[in-house]
This record gives sequence, structure tokens and C-alpha cells, in this order.
Amino acid sequence: MNFEPSAISPSDEDGLAKAARILLSGGLVALPTETVYGLAADATNDQAVAKIFAAKGRPSFNPLIAHVASLEDALALGHFTPAALALAKAFWAGPLTLVVPTRADCPVSLLARAGLDSLAIRIPAHPVALALLQTVKVPLAAPSANRSGHVSPTLARHVAEDLGQRLDLILDGGACTLGVESTILDCTGDMPLLLRPGGLTRHAIEALLQHPLALHTPAHSKTMQSEQAPLLAPGLMASHYAPRAKVRLNAKEALPGEAILDFGPSIPGPNSAPRLSLSPSGNLIEAAAQLFAALRQLDASGCPTIAIAPIPAHDLGEAINDRLARAAAPRSG
Ligand code: TXA
Ligand code: MG
Repeated sequence: MNFEPSAISPSDEDGLAKAARILLSGGLVALPTETVYGLAADATNDQAVAKIFAAKGRPSFNPLIAHVASLEDALALGHFTPAALALAKAFWAGPLTLVVPTRADCPVSLLARAGLDSLAIRIPAHPVALALLQTVKVPLAAPSANRSGHVSPTLARHVAEDLGQRLDLILDGGACTLGVESTILDCTGDMPLLLRPGGLTRHAIEALLQHPLALHTPAHSKTMQSEQAPLLAPGLMASHYAPRAKVRLNAKEALPGEAILDFGPSIPGPNSAPRLSLSPSGNLIEAAAQLFAALRQLDASGCPTIAIAPIPAHDLGEAINDRLARAAAPRSG
């Protein structure tokens, strides 16, 4: 690791002021949110946004979320249907990203939008992220602060390990409380559709909408130009959130040589196996918060495979299983 530790700054007044200066001069700052750490740049600055793609090694067709400080700021960027507005009012600030049609005068860089006519927007529920957004007064484009396809960061140290000197400053806000990314809803049509399960549960969303939330499927893409269609389901990028080790899901027991990730009662396995638990008591909130850090830690043990105990699919389990399925998916290289 060739990282300069001096680039990690506490999120105090000085740190925030420095971060704001860097962002407004086109630099990159990693910042804590309630979900995961984000790699932020001024979303209205093409060159700054380009640096995000370069630092992450991210395919440039994958659009970024614009983070804003208030509902008013969000409304200046996109058109909100009544359902989108109700969702924003109910759940912002919080782990919910809404994809809405962009306003004609939307100042967010086309590069950040990957040329789409929709924009993903969220207000993060984290005092450091909000303070920074209020200071810079521009939307911040911020993907998770990991190299493209890798495990998302929930500690400042994770960012340092993954992105090293590819950014200008890391604001340390401690561990992310939620630990999985925001839930993403496509609100470009009449009915919101689920693009990515995440920190806000399906249950909470359906209770507000008063109807079941449909998953986005390719069939919905017919409203888009065909070459844009795959973007509608970013979750369909099968391999993602991947540690170096292979991942074996729903393991009832561990095989020799495997590291073990438990949930609830420990699964049987060799005594010598590196073992962590997402939540010994089987609590999904605790498990979500531990997920990415645990994958990183077991990966560091050098085991070729991580065996992961079954995790129920309800509540935050939907997002956890989504991330694990992609960590386990075949990789292109
Ligand atoms: O919790 C989170 O959402 C974190 C924190 C940092 O805010 N951010 C995050 O960003 O997870 P990222 O870039 O890792 O994931 C954003 C996802 C991508 O899969 C992208 O394809 C999708 O949002 N996305 C962005 N704009 C979109 C759009 N206009 N239409 C459909 N999907 C979009
Ligand atoms: Mg990500």
C-alpha cells in the first residue's frame, strides 16, 4: 500500500474547510455517508467528474448519484412525480436514491449522467456529508469510494487501502452506520420501480406507496433507447462488490481451506478456519453494518474461498443477499 496517511483528515472544522476548497477547485474527496464512503467531486465540473471515473477505474457508461443538501436543491435538478415527491419527503435525508427525469437546465455534468436524460439524486443522512454539501453549494457526484467492482468501503481506512493516492483527501467520519448502499428507485415512470435494493427496506417503501414495489426488468427498458437499456438496471452488472477470494453462498458448513462468515448460530467448519460473524444474534441491521468490513477482513486472511451462511431475504436481508449474490457472481477478469 503506497498511501500517504496524512491525506486522512478528521471531519472537524479545518477538515471540512479543506475538503470544500478541494472540491470547489475540482479535486476528489472521500466523505462518510450513513451508507458507505463516497468518492465525491463537484458534479457540475466535467473534469472533476472525469477524475472519479479514472480513480475508480469505472466504465464511463455507469452514471453517478448526485448528492444534494436539501429537497429544494433536488427539485432544481429533476422533475419529480407525485410519488417521487412523497418518497423524497418521507425518506430524505436517508438511504434512498431517486432516479428522475433531468430538468433542461440541470447543471450536473453529462459525464456524471453518462449521457442519460435521467439523474439519480439523494440527500445523505450524515452530518459530515450534509455540512460539506451546505458549504460547497453544488451537487456532489459520489459513487462508493472503492475501485470499480470491489467491496464498498465503510471505514476511512478501506478508502485509503483501495484508492490510495488517487484522491486528494479522505474525511474520516468513523464507521458508516448502515453499511450497505442506498436503495435506488426509478421514478421516471408513473410507478416507482426498484433498481437496487439497499439501506431503505422494501417494506418501508411499500408502506408509503400503498402498493407492492416491482423490480425493474429489461421489459421496462423499452421506453429508453436500446443502447441505454442496460443502464436501467445497474444491478445487472453481475459481478460487483467482489472480494479477491471466491464467495460461496448459503453454506451449511465450511470446507477445508475456506474462511467462514456466519450469521446467527455458527456453521460447522475446521477449527483453524478464519471465522467472523455478521451478527451472532441474527440481527439484519447489525449484519448490514458489518458486511463489507467483514468481507475485506476475511479476504485479507488469504483464503481462496469465503463460505457464507444463509441470510434471510426479508428487510435489510434483501440488500445483503443482493450484494452477496454479486460478490459470488462469475467474474470477467
Ligand atoms: O449509498 C449510496 O448510494 C452510495 C453513497 C456514496 O451515496 N453511492 C453509491 O454509488 O452506491 P454507486 O455509484 O456505487 O452506485 C450508484 C448506482 C450505480 O449502479 C448506477 O448505475 C446507478 O446508481 N445510477 C446512477 N444514475 C442512474 C440513472 N440515471 N439511471 C439508473 N441508474 C443510475
Ligand atoms: Mg458502488
